[in-house]
Amino acid sequence: LGNWIGNRIHFFQEIESTNDGAFQLALGGADEGTVVIAESQTKGKGRLKRQWQSPPGCNIYTSIVLRPEVDPVFAPQITLMTGVAVADLLSLYCPGSVTLKWPNDVQIRGKKVCGILTEMSSSAPKKVNFVIVGIGVNVNIDRADFDESFRDIATSLKDEVGSEISRLDLIAKLFDNLENLYTLLRKDGFGSIKDMWLKYSDVVGKQIRVVFNDNVQAGEVHGIDDFGALIISDENEIIKRVIAGDAS
Ligand code: BTN
Repeated sequence: LGNWIGNRIHFFQEIESTNDGAFQLALGGADEGTVVIAESQTKGKGRLKRQWQSPPGCNIYTSIVLRPEVDPVFAPQITLMTGVAVADLLSLYCPGSVTLKWPNDVQIRGKKVCGILTEMSSSAPKKVNFVIVGIGVNVNIDRADFDESFRDIATSLKDEVGSEISRLDLIAKLFDNLENLYTLLRKDGFGSIKDMWLKYSDVVGKQIRVVFNDNVQAGEVHGIDDFGALIISDENEIIKRVIAGDAS
């Protein structure tokens, strides 16, 4: 495993949510790079209060404690950086077929293979205490074992590659990638990571529709800003920032 991410691993056969576990450890002072890995989760959490299907024996569920010394407004950069780390990883197995979908689904041939949930604790007005980066990868789950509602929109690495993939290899490479990109982010800022993200997403110039609760925003995508928001122009050519929702 890499140098400091994954240096301390808390492994659970079963946990409610690795994000909650890591959050508690971080509150207790856990060092940056501490990770929680679970074989299964009973309350795996997705974005927008959804559930994340987390059966044992097949997938990766992990959460990492980071302590970036930044203003909370920059925390979304960490989520996008994580998307790039996972996309680079999965591209080793499926070159050319991995895409990122804003805000942060990793897809293979247009189907979701990984979800990322970042949670933050901040105090004072401008200080991040810690960020928990939660990553769930569908590695060897069989198509038939997906909840019916996901079966057509989700996939696993095994289904895409055609053979079982070692979760140990994957997670070791994942922590390496994260370490390298996080170092780059802190040294050089967001610019090159944003470019890598945009390359995987291929969304610039396309029409997009983002739904958040009852609110719909639609328009042509210009890019993402330094706060992780999507920049679009609507039919009246008014530029808007979209910060959350489901994109299509
Ligand atoms: C999403 O796409 O909605 C995000 C899903 C994130 C799932 C992972 S699995 C490990 C970590 N622990 C959780 O409870 N959620 C994240």
